[in-house]
Parts: sequence; C-alpha cells; structure tokens
Amino acid sequence: MAEVNPAEVSAILRDQLAGVKTAADLEEVGTVLYVGDGIARIYGMSQVQSGELIEFDNGLMGIVLNLEEDNVGAVLLGSSNKVREGDTVKRTGRIAYGTELNPKYHNIAIRRDEKFEKNIINGDAKLIDTYGFPQIDFSISSPPYWDILNRSTGSFKKVRDKKQLDTKYSEHNLDLGNIDDYDEFIKSCAEVYVKMYDILRVGAHIVIIIKNVKKDGKFYPLAWDLAKELSSSYELKDEKIWIQDKIGLAPYGYPFSWTSNILHHYCLILKKV
Ligand SMILES: C[S@@+](CC[C@H](N)C(=O)[O-])C[C@H]1O[C@@H](n2cnc3c(N)ncnc32)[C@H](O)[C@@H]1O
Repeated sequence: MAEVNPAEVSAILRDQLAGVKTAADLEEVGTVLYVGDGIARIYGMSQVQSGELIEFDNGLMGIVLNLEEDNVGAVLLGSSNKVREGDTVKRTGRIAYGTELNPKYHNIAIRRDEKFEKNIINGDAKLIDTYGFPQIDFSISSPPYWDILNRSTGSFKKVRDKKQLDTKYSEHNLDLGNIDDYDEFIKSCAEVYVKMYDILRVGAHIVIIIKNVKKDGKFYPLAWDLAKELSSSYELKDEKIWIQDKIGLAPYGYPFSWTSNILHHYCLILKKV
C-alpha cells in the first residue's frame, strides 16, 4: 500500500473543509488524517501546544507531541482501534507537567519527545513548587510503596530479573523508596503533596495511587495513613480500589492462619478546598 503523506492529505482536507469550517473552528478542532501504532496525525487545531491533552470523538485522550507545518502528531492514551480517520479531535487547553527522580525513567518520558524536557523535570518531587510549573487543575501520581521494591524476593524478583526489570528504583538518598522507617516514609511522602498544594488551583483534585503493605509479617495500612496525614491539608473525597485479581496469592498458612490479600491498590482522591 502507498505510504500516506500527511502533507498531501492535509492539503486535500484543507480544500474540502474550506467553506465548511471557519478559521476559528480549525484553531480549536482537528480531523484525524492517519492513525496507527498508538499515534494519530491530525489536520487542524492550529493553536494547539506541544504537550497539550486532546480529546477524540469517543472520549479517548491523546497528548500532542509534534507540531508540523501541515499536521499535528499525537500519542493516543488508549487503543489505536478506537480512533478512525476522519474523526474529530478537540483541544482541551490542558498541558501535563511532571517530575521523576531517576534519570533512567525520566529518559523514558523524554525519549517519546524531547519537547517533554521542559515539562517533565528530572528532580525531586519535594521541590515541585520550585520548578516554575503553572497552576495545576489535576494531579495523578504513584509514589513508591515505601521500600517494597527493595524487598523484592522469591518469584516476584525472579520474574522481574528475567524480564530485566529493576528491583530497586535507585540508590538515591532522596528516593522515597529508600526510606526504611515507616513513619518517616509517610511524613516524607506527604511532604510532596503539601509542597504541591501551593501550585494547585482551588478546587483541584489529586489522585494518589498507593497500596497497603506487609513488612516482616506485619501489616501497614500505608494508603490509609497517607490519606489521614494529608487530610489536614486536603479534603479526602473518595477511594477507588484497583483490583489486581490476575495476580496469584501466596496463601502461606491457609487454612490455619489468616492470609491477607494486599495486592489491590487504592486510588486516593483528594481536593484542594
Ligand atoms: C510506583 S513508581 C511510579 C512510576 C510512574 N510515575 C508511574 O506511575 O508509572 C514510583 C516512582 O517514584 C520515583 N521517585 C522516588 N522518589 C522520588 C522523588 N523524591 N522525587 C521524584 N520521583 C521519585 C521512582 O523513581 C519511581 O519511578
């Protein structure tokens, strides 16, 4: 099949849409020219910015990566087969910012597009209020679940080693995953969100993905303790439970002693009031 040239298709579309859409429409709205491999090329949206979130007809979101002369390239935040050529796309005016301490993981984000470099900082999340981010409406984050990754053992470690996945986030002394003491971890983790408070708009929501953990046979209600610690700054709105029922339990002790299931994650939802 002949290679699609977005510039040529853009020119044809521009002619077809002339008279149907005003220049103002084309500033805010686009039409999908091509979709595949998790990427869409879009005609229109002439005012869109790199890093901006965009919304497709069916509600699927994307992030704009490249601004070409004739078209816009965006990565889809979901399956490519939910978007078709000719679908309409809208700007949202929302741009994502972030921080990651480990240069290796920071690079994964930047590799997608070097323009992310100015939005995604390789640094400590506790300094989030010093990175010059604008006022934020929504934040989603997943901090280390205390030091559980450092304690990877048994089949979990074997599977990760086999897939050449890390079993420790980093050796960095600012890495929240390297804090040994539980209370210190909760305080340190909460400090990130307290620092974030000032750059959030009033009414902004934050979602924290976290999990209760077990260490040396003892159960630690990490998600609940973090929610409690933060409820002096934020209003706790809800918890959503992210079920992990595809992961097998290791029911040691069953049926003679209680076997806890700590595989599910919590999505804590808090609001700046
Ligand atoms: C559970 S992972 C989440 C990774 C990724 N954000 C995601 O949701 O897929 C926790 C991440 O926090 C990072 N991290 C640990 N301490 C940090 C700190 N003080 N500042 C910024 N990032 C930190 C780790 O390197 C790790 O990538």
